Amino acid sequence: MRWLLLALLPLAASAQEIRPSQEFLSPMLRAQQEDPSRHPGWLWVDEGEAIWRRGERSCQSCHGDIAAMRGVATRYPAVASDGQLLNLEGRIERCRVENQGQAAFGLESEALLGLTAAVARQSRGMAMSVPVEGRAAAFLEEGRAFYETRQGQLNLSCGQCHDANAGRRLRGDVISNGLGTGYPAYRLEWNMMGSLHRRLRACSLGVRATQFPLGSREYLTLELYLAHRARGMPVEAPGLRR
Ligand code: HEC
Ligand code: HEC
Repeated sequence: MRWLLLALLPLAASAQEIRPSQEFLSPMLRAQQEDPSRHPGWLWVDEGEAIWRRGERSCQSCHGDIAAMRGVATRYPAVASDGQLLNLEGRIERCRVENQGQAAFGLESEALLGLTAAVARQSRGMAMSVPVEGRAAAFLEEGRAFYETRQGQLNLSCGQCHDANAGRRLRGDVISNGLGTGYPAYRLEWNMMGSLHRRLRACSLGVRATQFPLGSREYLTLELYLAHRARGMPVEAPGLRR
């Protein structure tokens, strides 16, 4: 790990334009991401759509066809009426408990990943435009501070990889701008679908920093900042990753 950081650090951070995550994928992976017949993540989408319709007080019974969720993912994370910052998973869990009257699915459960992917997929190709005014502003600043702080034994900020070294190779990966637009994503290394927070835990571990829990305030505010960085970029969920 040390040698590779020596290779990274001398590069001066410079303001660079942010590019969609799909532009950093290998041509093969990018083509596969666009082809449902070669993208295992769509199995989760199909399951999510089935759950959407299932049961007496189904999601569908209140919201109608899942196509009604078009555009929703471009606006999350968002501040709920009680002032809490919710990402799409959190918003769905809240409906599950408060509106459906059922036990929460649980973060990283197949059902929640499937539903989240099925909802996010309705916004595929649409531009991210998360609101950051009003009550979201303080959360955004928290996320920005997290992003800019050097962390872990390797003492690296997110931006030292995802801004200063975007486009360069690191252990077989091409470093992207670190956006959340492809999540939930099917990652070949996981052999399954996973959330953005799971991916963030992997980056925290990569620099030997604290791994925060899935759904933690740290990762939620960071997710909001990443969504703001991604404004104008297309939603790619369900993504396909190495
Ligand atoms: C009893 C009716 C009801 C059921 C059942 C229900 N919801 Fe909702 N849902 C709502 C209402 C009402 C809102 C708007 C709440 C608000 O804005 O505070 C909402 C909001 C949402 C949103 C955010 C939409 C937006 O524009 O921001 C999502 C996503 C969502 N629901 C998903 C689901 C899913 C998935 C299920 C099934 C697991 C479900 N809901 C079940 C009533 C329901
Ligand atoms: C040592 C370099 C390094 C640091 C520091 C780092 N990451 Fe990453 N990150 C990577 C690599 C490599 C990948 C996999 C390739 C890619 O998608 O960029 C990755 C992937 C990601 C992804 C998934 C992108 C996608 O489309 O699949 C996100 C989001 C992300 N990082 C966010 C962060 C955040 C936020 C931080 C700070 C807490 C951070 N990373 C710190 C190297 C780093």
